Amino acid sequence: MTNPFVRRDGVLHAEAVDLTEVARIHGTPCYVYSRQAFTEHFNAYQQAFAAQKALVCYALKANGNLAVLNLLARLGAGFDIVSVGELERVLAAGGDASRVVFSGVAKREDEMARALSAGIKCFNIESVPELDRLNTVAARLGKRAPISLRVNPDVDANTHPYISTGLKDNKFGIAIEDAEAAYLHAQSLSHLDIVGVDCHIGSQLTTLTPFLDALDRVIVLIGKLAAQGITLKHIDLGGGVGVDYQGEVPPSLIEYAAEVRRRLDAHDYTRSLSVILEPGRSIAANAGILLTQVEFVKLSDAKAFAIVDAGMNDLIRPSLYQAWQRIERVDEQDDGKARTQASFDIVGPVCESGDFLGKERELSLAAGDLLAVFSAGAYGFTMASNYNARPRPAELMVDGNACHVVRERETIASLWHGEHCLPH
Ligand code: LLP
Repeated sequence: MTNPFVRRDGVLHAEAVDLTEVARIHGTPCYVYSRQAFTEHFNAYQQAFAAQKALVCYALKANGNLAVLNLLARLGAGFDIVSVGELERVLAAGGDASRVVFSGVAKREDEMARALSAGIKCFNIESVPELDRLNTVAARLGKRAPISLRVNPDVDANTHPYISTGLKDNKFGIAIEDAEAAYLHAQSLSHLDIVGVDCHIGSQLTTLTPFLDALDRVIVLIGKLAAQGITLKHIDLGGGVGVDYQGEVPPSLIEYAAEVRRRLDAHDYTRSLSVILEPGRSIAANAGILLTQVEFVKLSDAKAFAIVDAGMNDLIRPSLYQAWQRIERVDEQDDGKARTQASFDIVGPVCESGDFLGKERELSLAAGDLLAVFSAGAYGFTMASNYNARPRPAELMVDGNACHVVRERETIASLWHGEHCLPH
């Protein structure tokens, strides 16, 4: 995989674009994405699974910008959505509803109805009451809803507790031991079509073992269903592999694809299943950075702070998950400016002690310096908020030597759009 964020003469570039120029023209903070990186990361899945009947459904919770979705749709992506808002984003970006799978534990009736009318590929159902609700909605519309059950294989993904989803005490999915009964119930409902099975055990997994353990358990279930006369068309393996934030070595997709195939080929009842994947992070994270400027360097006996213009409202991962993301000065040329060399906490403008982008980073900094926070393309902008009445940053996408604004910086006036004072 080529790295789109490289230095030329000491200055960090996104593809061929100088990031100091990006900051000068568009201001900071801003997210900068690389078209090339999104393309290569998506194609890596397509190519690894090319020999199989596979559909790569990009999980747009990682980054749902229309330009990203449009680019991926043109590359042949399907999409994994978790709300009607995400469905409308996919459709607005030119995505194909028949390549959409709908995950999430709390689908409302209106969301189900919209997805049914749009003609999505599959509802990933997470509980028995949800089966009943979908059956009622489908009956009302005179349609049959394609479903898979998200089963919870009780596998420890060895990841951060907030992003681990496949354990018994998580709210997600149906316990695998209850799945057979749930499938039989689904079969009894007249407006549902059973088409698949689904699992997702967590995010940022840096080994294949938990994925394959989960798959083994799901295959046992598929065998039991086959014995009951319930045949499936696809198996959805959930999210993608982890990424390199701090030297992690992500599992090989080629090996993943081969291991999946080997397991599916081992049984009559799994051989002809097509495979669905729902990667988000591994397509988006290292396709983007957050650009921010140092406002002040603040030194005390105890601490060195670099106070920057991006905060936890712009990028919450460090505060929420203690996530580590690489931070570097954009322009490392010697400009003769006096700088402080220290172990800096990189903190934002938000009025919370938990507002930091990185801690104890050995850097040489002065006010006015530009910083790049790496691996910010996934779960960055999508988790941004307006806390402290801060407009959300602009999003830009670089394509060779061109830099396109793919979402304008929010205006101050937009902050109270839709708000109303009392009449008297
Ligand atoms: N499918 C389902 C049902 C999911 O819940 C998720 C992520 C994915 C696919 C995509 O997984 P990925 O390929 O990105 O690992 N905000 C957190 C990550 C939350 C992940 C939630 N589910 C973070 O910033 O680390």
